[in-house]
Amino acid sequence: MKEASLKYFEEIRARYAEARPNSEKMAREARKYLPGGDTRTATFYLPYASFMEGGKGAYMFDVDGHKLLDFQGNYTSLIHGHAHPETVEAVRDQIAKGSAYAAPFELQWKLGQLLCERYHALDMVRFCNSGTEATMHAVRAARAFTGKDKVIKTEGGYHGTTDIFEASVDPDLNEAGPLDAINVIPESLGVSKNALKDVLVVPFNDIVRTRKMVEEHADEVACVIIEPVMGSAGQITPDPEWLRALREVTAENGVLLIFDEVVTGRLSTGGAHKFYGITPDLISLGKIIGGGIPVGAFGGRKDIMDLYDPRKGQMYHSGTFNGNAITMAAGYATMKAYDEEKAAYVNALGSRFAEGLKGIFKELSIDMQVSGVGSIYNTLFTNKLVRNYRDVATAHEELNKILFLDLITRGVFNAERGMFAMNTAMTEADVDFGLDMVKASLKDMLPIIAIEAPELV
Ligand SMILES: Cc1ncc(COP(=O)(O)O)c(C=O)c1O
Repeated sequence: MKEASLKYFEEIRARYAEARPNSEKMAREARKYLPGGDTRTATFYLPYASFMEGGKGAYMFDVDGHKLLDFQGNYTSLIHGHAHPETVEAVRDQIAKGSAYAAPFELQWKLGQLLCERYHALDMVRFCNSGTEATMHAVRAARAFTGKDKVIKTEGGYHGTTDIFEASVDPDLNEAGPLDAINVIPESLGVSKNALKDVLVVPFNDIVRTRKMVEEHADEVACVIIEPVMGSAGQITPDPEWLRALREVTAENGVLLIFDEVVTGRLSTGGAHKFYGITPDLISLGKIIGGGIPVGAFGGRKDIMDLYDPRKGQMYHSGTFNGNAITMAAGYATMKAYDEEKAAYVNALGSRFAEGLKGIFKELSIDMQVSGVGSIYNTLFTNKLVRNYRDVATAHEELNKILFLDLITRGVFNAERGMFAMNTAMTEADVDFGLDMVKASLKDMLPIIAIEAPELV
């Protein structure tokens, strides 16, 4: 960033810090015990994150007495906002009866049934405890079924933190290589180089290159895994033709197709695969299906999932908290309440937000983009229509960080990367308040945008 922009950012940080002395004290204590005072990289920001006291509906309350309209919803997992009354009641009832049994119980198959009825790719499902585990097990299922090991993923695709998925998530474009032969770049220190030998990377929305990759490596590739909407890369929506081509080329070549629906599971009551009318072989789920409690699930075709039938002794899949009673109770209450009407409602709020943003960009004459679909969107400081990771990687990321911190000082909480997620606890008035604050922020940022991204103003 240029000097004037850094100064502007510093001023916002100072204003932020001045009004958050309790958070600062807590951050100082937390740093003694947690590296950087943090236990989840995605929740860290400078000068220190706001510590929360609680949340209710669409709002969170920090330890310095601020009320924040929450467009992050724990990274999209809180479809009904905070402390959804039916979910709270279900958890309260359940916890009084115990939290986990190491024995099956009714709510496991009830939530399983609900998911299989809603998500048409699911004949059968298994529970685990995070989206990371869900994608890891979906790949293992694909390997077991096909007898092959390699995995094709998209550049910019995020599927959690197992080694094979910490590959080319947010690579430096100077190291990423040409689109025809994308380098597989580890996202973090400590990722096994051997594990990455099983990973091949293709550009999102690129039919020709994806088809070629699948055909050339069909004898060693178990699966192609995609986020139907590439979320952490910037809510990049898919061309339906690319999804159709993926379905075709994988089926033709004995390769399984996995949709990672951990985030997109909310796009309709049947996720993105219902929304786009494609049936993958396997899907992973997480976030909303646990009602705010840790969760993951994976499943799909019966002939694949039959491998998990313990009577056959073919696959080992265990986990102390798999299908635990609290997650099942919260998930069941939450998902029952996320019916067609609620899905339509939250998506309509999303459209209102996206249209509102476009209006603001026009009014302020900023040539920037809003990406996304349904109830999740992203502000992007680029004038390019984004179709793959590289289009987003050339946007001005730092401007989203300034917007993020400035919005907190105005009572709006989104994600630093520019993501805004709606939830069913929000009203149109809430969304409009969020839009007003974005407008005020962007208006103040205009001189900085002119310095950092002159092509946009
Ligand atoms: C698409 C996608 N897959 C998998 C994951 C991992 O889920 P979790 O954080 O629950 O491990 C995430 C998390 O944000 C995600 O966005």
